Amino acid sequence: MKIAIIGTGYVGLPTGVGFAELGNNVVCIDQIVKKIEELNNGKITLYETGLEELFHKNRANGRLKFTTKMKDGVTGADIVIIAVGTPTHPVTKESDMKYIYAAAGELAQYLTDYTVVAVKSTVPVGICDDIEDIILKGNPKADFDVVSLPEFLREGFAVEDFFNPDRIVIGTESERAKALIAKLYEPFECKNRFLFVSRKSSEAIKYAANSFLAVKVHYINEMADFCEKSGADINEVARGMGFDSRIGMKFLQPGPGYGGSCFPKDTIAMVTMANNYGVKLNIIETAVKHNHLRKKKMSERITNAVAHIYNPVIAILGLTFKEGTDDVRESPAMEIVQEILKNGLSVKVYDPKGIKNAEPILKDTVYYADSIVDACKDADICVILTEWQDFKKFPFEEVSKVIKTPVIMDLRNILNREEAVGKGFIYHSLGSKR
Ligand code: UDX
Repeated sequence: MKIAIIGTGYVGLPTGVGFAELGNNVVCIDQIVKKIEELNNGKITLYETGLEELFHKNRANGRLKFTTKMKDGVTGADIVIIAVGTPTHPVTKESDMKYIYAAAGELAQYLTDYTVVAVKSTVPVGICDDIEDIILKGNPKADFDVVSLPEFLREGFAVEDFFNPDRIVIGTESERAKALIAKLYEPFECKNRFLFVSRKSSEAIKYAANSFLAVKVHYINEMADFCEKSGADINEVARGMGFDSRIGMKFLQPGPGYGGSCFPKDTIAMVTMANNYGVKLNIIETAVKHNHLRKKKMSERITNAVAHIYNPVIAILGLTFKEGTDDVRESPAMEIVQEILKNGLSVKVYDPKGIKNAEPILKDTVYYADSIVDACKDADICVILTEWQDFKKFPFEEVSKVIKTPVIMDLRNILNREEAVGKGFIYHSLGSKR
């Protein structure tokens, strides 16, 4: 099939590469000229495990193209996937639909034969109706259906999640659209997990799912706080909870707070959307508020740990919002670093993939290390803020030779306490009184 994808970000690019890999002819469209130039010159514009190899392969076989021209991508396409950003509006706190509406308005004129316009961006309930109206207004003769096709890709696992989706949610009442989308996903193993629902239900599913996951993360973080006071151990409590199939082990890993370009935005949008209908979502609202406060609590914990030291140096491991990605948007680590810098502390940072995105924000306020050992050299404490695999293989011996005081504050609970203590370190973690 011929597929046009509007938006080449963390959703659009992996989706375009994935559909090309499955044999479709894909044209990815973006209005950012520099980004399209880099992609056309074979330079991948974001890090995702396994993406680069498929990107080069499908560019080479001609199934994957990039353009800034909507006309070149949309004309003759069977499916046009809208995957543009829906940032939080700074004032209304709603998801800002300006890019969605602009894309819908521009693509309308290029629709020729029957086309499915699939909305993969996360949009509030009812937006697909607006998109339909905008396209009809722009091209009254167009033969098309607007379908809600929410994505559930996790950053850092986008390629894995693309090829192994838990479910494909399709929001439409059109039999023609159902048939076309079913054909598109024919090669997928999870054909039997197609969920054909109404468009509004499909739009709601994404927000409801993401908000639930965010609340689950916040829940385990609050349980960690309880364990620190009560003497229970959060790692043991999480395992004891997770064996219950109704709870499950996933998303019970305590940390410095949830971040990224989705949870913070989607939870706020969910609460705002509900408020607009006069419905108060107290649980999500509380999680949003206290997740935000958690980052300040974590920076105070770090500052207090070195309060007795003159001119302390803090080594920070991890700037991205989670492992496996180079994305620092809404990263708790970035907020925590900026908070401890306000307290006048010296900070050295290391991250396997995130430095290039962090540097334009942190600028020359920190020292950028090129390894764990380099970051810990002459430091008074080593703080782990992102659960990178590299950090799980912590080089205790090498670090103990260069760190000023052998103290580790593991705010992702990824190291083994016994091993750290055995190697001569003072080890602090989350959710334990020890
Ligand atoms: C999320 C959803 O998982 C995905 O389905 C949706 O399509 C997009 O939003 P993502 O934002 O990539 O994906 O990150 P995710 O893996 O969900 O983690 C979100 C945040 O929660 C990260 O900051 C992560 O560190 C944190 N987290 C996650 C925890 O602190 N503990 C956990 O156990 C899991």
